Amino acid sequence: FVTPMLVPPVMPRAGTIRRKGGKPVDYYEISVRQLSQQILPVGLPATTVWGYGAVRSANRRGLLVHHAPSLTIEARWKRPVQVKWVNDLVDSAGNYLPHLLPVDPTLHWANPPGGDDGRDSRPTFAATPGAYTGPVPLVTHVHGAVGVGDESDGYAEAWFLPAARNVPAGCATEGTWHSFFRGKASSALGLEWGPGFVTFEYPNDQRASTLWYHDHTLGMTRLNVYAGPAGFFLVRGGPQGDSAIRDSRSGAMAVLPGPAPKEGDRVPSRKTYFELPIVIQDRAFNEDGSLFYPDSREFFDGATAQNPGFAPATDLSPIWNPEFFGNAIMVNGNTWPFQVVQRRRYRLRLLNGCQARFLVLDFSRIPGAQVWAIGNEGGFLAAPVDLTATNGSRLLMAPAERADLVVDFTNVPEGSYVLGNEGPDEPFGGGEPGSDFDGADPRTTGQVLQFRVVAPVSPDPSTPPQFLVLPPVPSLPARTRTRRLALIEMMSSAWDGPAEAMLGELDADGHPVHRMWMDEVTENPSVGDTEVWEVYNFTADAHPIHIHETTFQVADRQALVTNEDGEAEAPARLVGEPRPPEGWETGFKDTVIAYPGEVTRVRARFTRAGQYTWHCHIVEHEDNEMMRPYRIGPAQA
Ligand code: C2O
Ligand code: CU
Repeated sequence: FVTPMLVPPVMPRAGTIRRKGGKPVDYYEISVRQLSQQILPVGLPATTVWGYGAVRSANRRGLLVHHAPSLTIEARWKRPVQVKWVNDLVDSAGNYLPHLLPVDPTLHWANPPGGDDGRDSRPTFAATPGAYTGPVPLVTHVHGAVGVGDESDGYAEAWFLPAARNVPAGCATEGTWHSFFRGKASSALGLEWGPGFVTFEYPNDQRASTLWYHDHTLGMTRLNVYAGPAGFFLVRGGPQGDSAIRDSRSGAMAVLPGPAPKEGDRVPSRKTYFELPIVIQDRAFNEDGSLFYPDSREFFDGATAQNPGFAPATDLSPIWNPEFFGNAIMVNGNTWPFQVVQRRRYRLRLLNGCQARFLVLDFSRIPGAQVWAIGNEGGFLAAPVDLTATNGSRLLMAPAERADLVVDFTNVPEGSYVLGNEGPDEPFGGGEPGSDFDGADPRTTGQVLQFRVVAPVSPDPSTPPQFLVLPPVPSLPARTRTRRLALIEMMSSAWDGPAEAMLGELDADGHPVHRMWMDEVTENPSVGDTEVWEVYNFTADAHPIHIHETTFQVADRQALVTNEDGEAEAPARLVGEPRPPEGWETGFKDTVIAYPGEVTRVRARFTRAGQYTWHCHIVEHEDNEMMRPYRIGPAQA
C-alpha cells in the first residue's frame, strides 16, 4: 500500500453539437492507445497497457490523458452523448500494434484474416495454431446504457481495425455487422463512420446510474479488457437522480457525500473528493512488468495434474482458458493503493471489473465503519440497506456488478485499515466464505485497498444514510411472456473442465438445449414488451448474466433438483419456494448472479428495436459461447 489511489478524472468533451430543434449533445473524441503505465509500485517496472483517452478537448484545461482504467464520462440525464471512438492501436509510423496478449484464433472470434467471423475460415483446434499477431479489432460498449440504437451498442461483430498502413492484404477491416450498421448510422442518423473510427450516440434517457464502458469484440473481449480499455460512465440528474432523494427527518432534499471530480480538475487535484469511483480488477504480471495472461491450456494445473496424459485434444481451444484469476489486485490502475479518508461519510461507486473473480468485499476489518448500499447498476435501490447490520459489512459483487455505497468513517479510530476480499481465488458457487468456500489468499487477493483514516477538516453536510428516502422504483407493466433460458457447460473429454460454456433454453420437457452465438435469434421480444426471463443454471458455478439495452428487476430465485455435485438435473424440476432478491438487488439491475442449482428470474422491459446481446460477464465465458444475440422487434436486414 505505497501508491495513492488515483481518482479517475473526468473525460473532457470535444464540444457540443447543436441540432436544429433538438437538444444539445455532448460530443467526445476518444481513442484507444498503447501506453506505459506505472501499475506496480514505483521502483518496479512499468506495464504496457491500452487505455481510452480524449483526443481533443473543448475546455483548455481538459486532460488529454490515456489511462487504464480511463477517465470518467460524466453524462447528464436526457442529454445525449456522442462519442467518436477511434481504434488507434498503431505505432508512430502508422503501422498496427499487435495484441499484448495471446489471441486464440480457434475460438469463434472477430478473425480479420478469415475475412469474416465465420466458422469455416478459422483454424481448427487440432491444428493448434499459434496466437494471432495481426491488427487488433476493437468495438466499445457502454455497459448498462438503455435506449441505445443497435448501431451504437458495440455489437460484438461490429468490430473494426485501426486505420494502419500495413493491414495485410486480404484482412477484413471490419466485422459483418459493422458494415450493416454503417449504413444505418450514416444515412439515417448522421453519425460519422470511417476507417478506424465510428461515432456512437447514447440518449441517457434512463435512471441516474453507474455505467461503465469497455471493449466488446467477439471472442477477444477478455483480452482487450484485460489490456486496459474500460472506464466509468455516470448518468446524473433527472427525476431519479441525487436531487430526488429526501431526508426523512425534514422532507427536504437530502445530501449525498460529494463532490466528485469535475471536468477540468487538475491531477493530482488539490480538491478533496468525497465521492470516489473505484474499479477493482485482478491482474498478474511477468517479472519485466508486462501483463501476464495464459498462453495455453497448461496454465490450469488441474488439467495436467488430474490428467497426466493431458495432450492438446481435438475438442479444446489450445489457448483459451475457461476462467482467469490474477494474483494481484489493481484498484483504479494501481496494485494495492491507499486512500486517505477523513472521519466522515464517503460515497463509493464500486465496479467489479475482474475477468472471472467474484469479490466478497469485507469492510468489517475497518473498526467502526458503517456501510450502506444505496444503489446498484440501474440506479438507486428501493431503500438504503444497512450492510453492517444485516450482512456483517460484507458485499458480494460478481464481475460487472456495481454498487453505490455510503461508507461512514466517522467512528473509525484514526489509523490504517485494509478493505478485505473474502471471495474465492477460483470459480464461485455461492454460499459463505469459510464454510462453503475458501476465501482469497489473505496475503494477496484477500486485500484490496488501504484506507488511511484521518481527522475531519470540515463538518460533514451529508445526510446519514438511515434518513435517506430514495426515489421510488417504478413498477413494470404486466409481462407478455416468460422465457425459460439455460446456462450450460459442455465438458471436455480430455480434462476435468468445460470445453464450451454456452447459453440455451429449456425445451417443453425442461431439458436444456444449447445454442451457439451463430445460431438463429431465439429471444425476440417486441418493442414495448415486458418479459420474464428465467435463467436455469445447469453448471456447477455461478454466472453473472448481463442483458444489453435494458435494465431489469430481479423477481426471485428458486432451487432446482440437483445431483450430488450440486448441478441441476435435467429435466429441470423446481423445489421449495422462490426466495426474494437481496436488499442490494432491488431497484433495477443489468447484471445478475445466476447461482448453480437454481433458476433466477428477472423482469425486463424492451423499448427500442434492434439487434443486441445477452451473455455471461465472466469474460472468458463470454468469449467462448456464453453469449447470444437477441433482437427487439422485427429483423432489419
Ligand atoms: Cu459489460 Cu456485454 O458487457
Ligand atoms: Cu459464465
